[in-house]
Formats: sequence, structure tokens, C-alpha cells
Amino acid sequence: MLNGKRILLIIAGGIAAYKALELIRRLRERGAAVRCVLTGGGARFVTPLSVASLSGDKVYTDLFSLTDEAEMGHIELSRAADLVVVAPATADLLARMAHGRADDLAATALLATDKSVLVAPAMNLRMWLNPATQANMATLAARGVLTVGPNEGDMACGEYGPGRMAEADEIVSAVENFFGAGAPLSGRRALVTSGPTHEAIDPVRYLANRSSGKQGHAIALACARLGAEVTLVSGPTALADPAGVSVVRIESAEEMLAACMAALPVDVAVCAAAVSDWRPASPREQKIKKDGAAPELALAENPDILADLCAAGNRRPGLVVGFAAETESVVDNARAKLARKGCDWIVANDVSPATGAIGGDDNTVHLITAESVEDWPTMSKGAVAERLAARIAEHLKAGKNRA
Ligand code: CTP
Repeated sequence: MLNGKRILLIIAGGIAAYKALELIRRLRERGAAVRCVLTGGGARFVTPLSVASLSGDKVYTDLFSLTDEAEMGHIELSRAADLVVVAPATADLLARMAHGRADDLAATALLATDKSVLVAPAMNLRMWLNPATQANMATLAARGVLTVGPNEGDMACGEYGPGRMAEADEIVSAVENFFGAGAPLSGRRALVTSGPTHEAIDPVRYLANRSSGKQGHAIALACARLGAEVTLVSGPTALADPAGVSVVRIESAEEMLAACMAALPVDVAVCAAAVSDWRPASPREQKIKKDGAAPELALAENPDILADLCAAGNRRPGLVVGFAAETESVVDNARAKLARKGCDWIVANDVSPATGAIGGDDNTVHLITAESVEDWPTMSKGAVAERLAARIAEHLKAGKNRA
């Protein structure tokens, strides 16, 4: 089931470290290659020798070891894996991850990795319930870090509550889910556009809009979490790249169109970007000087990326989803847009200033198809993304063509 998958397992210092030994065995039984990093604390609970024997590989412990660096630098270590698993993930290591520390090999590898990370927290229940730990977990979740457990039960310290590390079998299931054994979008390719576009007026000025990219980025992450191979084509935003997604950064609508066409074929395209409808017709090569009358800005129409994807002939994605940002007659305008652009679904939202949808964290949307209109309750942009990704998975499963 996990044949050929490379797992970097980081074992931190907690009593649950003994379960990591069982985890190594179970992962290897399923065909995964497991390479281990043992923190200083971890090495007090399990020995490097037992970890090395079970993993069949060298154990990495020291950030400053010359032999380790000569054989495999910490950057390479964190990237030559398909998934990084932290088990047990102690309160301290989770705090260091949330704050981007790089004070030992484990934290450095976690900071340097470009792969998805799955954590299995393990700690005393008060430490787990402490707002500091909960805030750290929320930060990590927002960055796309996956979590398994902790479970409720008797603690080594004699208390009872949440904080017990998930059992080895549960962690293996989470790893299998990640690799898409049974994940609903496994084997599917998705294209998502996000953010605003910037249209140059001159080398220092541009036309843009207030899009934050939060909704589009959340959709890319939600599709990746369901196992899709996702390309996110994004205009300039202040957001971090979603984990497990390949991101193509562009500035203008014309660049966004080229990047989208280059990403085909895909099974589904979701156009959540707020593409600028116009661009300055002849951007100046030199900065426009303030000498005399205010300059006239002649505008040219930008390509409509959503419409062009719908008209891409045999390269048209099996399912094309557009967004309709409206300030009045939301559903009627969105219906007209669905017909005009030739897409399959439209996610329509009211972006009047009073709704706070633009730049905010919540969204109130309607999902419009040729046959129906669904009114979704107000929810976070992350929840909208998860619900949409689940609907996409259902639709593709019901028998649309593969890319
Ligand atoms: N869109 C696009 N390329 C454009 C303009 C819009 O791909 N040049 C996409 C958006 O990503 C969104 C949908 O089209 O999925 C609708 O965007 P919206 O701005 O609401 O619609 P417009 O086409 O600009 O129509 P109108 O200005 O009439 O509302």
C-alpha cells in the first residue's frame, strides 16, 4: 500500500516515543522506506540503535555533525521524503514549529521541508489544553500541517484526558489517507486560480483589486488534502503557499492565462481569481512623470481565463467552476454568468462592502449549476473550500472523464 513511499519520521522526546518503534515496523511492512531523526529528548526514551535497527537506515540526530552533513545535509534530508511524520510531536516541538525555530536538526528539517507534514501530538492533558498549545496547533493547521490524534485516555503521569499519542495503526491509516489510498481526489489533477492580478501602468504603478486570495488558496489546499495533484496559479498575495500544492506565481491576466493553459490537461479547474477585466493598453516603459496634465489611461480588455478554459476544445477540463463576485441580484447575475462563460458550476457570493467577504475570513455563497441553486450558510473560507472540494470529488466519481 505504501510501496516506494519515503517517510521522514521525526521522534521527539516523550514517553510515547516507544510507540514510534512500532510505527517504523508497520510503515516498513507496508513497503515504505523510513528514515528517522531523533531529537536529544527522543534519544532519552528510545536508543538510536533500536531506531536504526528497525528502520534499516542511519539515524540522524545532530544538526552540527560533520558526518551527517557530508552524507546528507539537513536541507536534503527534509526534502528527500514524500511525507514528514512527527511522532511523538511534543508540546515543545509543536511550539518551535509554529514559531519557525531552527534550533536542532528536527526543527531545522521541519522548517526547510517543502513536503507535507503530519504530526501526532503527545503530551499531558493540561499541556494539550493550554491555550498556547491550542494556538500553536491552529497556526500549524492554517499552514496545512496535518494532525492525527491525540486520543483521550490514561496518561503516564496518572491523569486521564486528551493527550495520548494516536496508536501506530491510526498513524499508519493517516499516512495511507495522505497518499490517497482511498482519498476521494486521488489520481485527479486540479487547477485553481487565486488572488488579484496586477496590470502594469508603468514600471512602478499598476491596476489591481482588493482580492486577498484566501478563498482560492483554501480551495487548492482542500483539493490537495483530498489527494488531488493541484496547480495553483496565483496573482500577488500575502499568503503562504498551501502545503502539497505546486504554485505558479504570476502578475498579469495574460500571464495567468498562459500558466493555466500550460497546466492542462486537468480534471477540474476552479477559477477563484479576481482577474482584472482591463489592463492599460500601452504600459509605459519609463515611469510617467508628473509634468503637466494628468495622463489619460486607455484600457484594453483582458483575456477571460474562465471562458477560455471552457472553450479549450478537447483540452477543456471535465468540470469547470467559476466564481461570481456580485454586489446586487447575486443569483440572477451568477446564472447569466454561468451561461455566458460556458462553465459547469458557479460559486456566487455577495461582495458588497457590508458583507466583509473581500479580504475577510468568512463567505456566504450559493452553488449554482445548470439544474439547481444551493444556498450555503455563512462559513469560513476554509469550510467553503472543503465543502466545494468534497462536491467536486462526488461529481468526478459519478463518472466524468479523467484528464
Ligand atoms: N474571470 C476570469 N478572467 C477574467 C475575468 C473573470 O477567469 N478576465 C473569472 C473569475 O475568476 C471568476 C469569473 O470569471 O471565476 C467571474 O468573475 P467576475 O469578476 O465576477 O465576472 P466578470 O467576468 O468580470 O463579469 P462582470 O464584470 O460582468 O461581473
